[in-house]
Amino acid sequence: MRQTNLVRTQVATREGFSSTLGVIAATLGSAVGLGNIWKFPYVTGENGGAAFILIYLFCIALIGLPVMISEFVIGRRSNSAAVGSLKKLAPGTPWFLTGVSGTLVAFLIMCYYTSVAGWVYAYIFKALSGSLGTTDPKVSGEAFASFISGTWSPLIWQWIVLIVTGAVILAGVKNGIERMTKTLLPILFVLLLICDIRALTLPGASKGVAFLLSPDFSKITGAAILTALGLAFFKLSVGMGVMTTYGSYIGKNESLIGTGVKVALMDILVSMMAGMAIFPAVFAFGSNPAQGPSLLFITIPMVFNSMPFGQALLAIFFVLASIAATGAMISLFEVPVAYLTEERHWSRKTATVVTALAIALLGSTATLSASEASLLANFKIFGKGMFDFLGFLTDNIGLPLTGLALALFAGWKLTSSDVYDEISNGGSLNNRGLIRYYLFATRLVAPIGIVIILLSGLGFIKL
Ligand code: PHE
Repeated sequence: MRQTNLVRTQVATREGFSSTLGVIAATLGSAVGLGNIWKFPYVTGENGGAAFILIYLFCIALIGLPVMISEFVIGRRSNSAAVGSLKKLAPGTPWFLTGVSGTLVAFLIMCYYTSVAGWVYAYIFKALSGSLGTTDPKVSGEAFASFISGTWSPLIWQWIVLIVTGAVILAGVKNGIERMTKTLLPILFVLLLICDIRALTLPGASKGVAFLLSPDFSKITGAAILTALGLAFFKLSVGMGVMTTYGSYIGKNESLIGTGVKVALMDILVSMMAGMAIFPAVFAFGSNPAQGPSLLFITIPMVFNSMPFGQALLAIFFVLASIAATGAMISLFEVPVAYLTEERHWSRKTATVVTALAIALLGSTATLSASEASLLANFKIFGKGMFDFLGFLTDNIGLPLTGLALALFAGWKLTSSDVYDEISNGGSLNNRGLIRYYLFATRLVAPIGIVIILLSGLGFIKL
């Protein structure tokens, strides 16, 4: 108890989230992103629908959620961000390198995520101007290709994204991150609901609903299971210190498991709502659900164009995608900024500006290599353009490695009594059963699952 009081005193000197709602809003704001609106629908479409979703849910429960709670434990126990937390909990050991790699991965993800987010911002204005008003897949595809292979336009959109996100970060944890996510999430929810109602009342919508809800297990392959695992990581923003950093802003009286479970459930709800807005419309208009990554930028405009009020709905849809992307980017941006302010003692302003400039610099190489016709398309690392290389380096190597180390640290390096103390809020929460589930998943299921993803991601095993 004495120790808990001690930690409480320290919390008072450091900015954190002000309320339970603030914690949920900020964490959910990080989880909900292009993952729900872009990645979840297209990989579900590619992997046959409901059966894939079921496997994804298992991956969330057994791997994603335990790693998320581990990050909360590490962050709140140490009251420090990604790097500092491990230095404090395991002084004089190399464990802090896990935080370094997480911080680096967050930075690298930002370099390409801001690129895609820039396209999403730009598509709001394209929808409003009516320039996406086609129902011809060729025209829609060419419009997208010519936009992303340009030089100045996508670069400027990426900078706009960085300025918007940087401004929120500059305002701080409570006034920036918490206030922004609390405002944006309800708006996102309402916009999604409008799109859902429109899509579900289209003639022929039921095929899309069946695609999302009735499982056909013949479609499930080893590769689909791996995709589901990777998606669970990306979706819950785990494996790069985001949730460690946010964990350090969580008050001592909040339930860590409760927060994790609520966020995971709401995140799933948002993904399903995005699916319900997209697939009924895709089926109603006879489009291909297995279109791949371009589903959002090529198929969706066509689908919306074929319905009444399509242009307005399309703009609404991209507004909600950009809101989601912005919440996710805020959390990614906060990781290097928290490192620079806490470990290097920079001011928040300098840390934000320098991070933004660094992302703009490296991120421009991603933006300028996003398509075969881009300016830097011929500059390759290990046979990949920068855009693809950054995605590969982070998704296939950085996230699983850092996530594995975080799970091992929380599961095996921290003592059971420390973990129990932190998760039960010093014994005041009676959640022994949940803690047992958490420890089992963190010690065994998650590390084994992650090793399998990692090996297959690197091509060592084929599932
Ligand atoms: N979870 C976010 C999404 O679904 C992406 C993200 C990944 C955000 C990693 C932060 C950290 O889009």
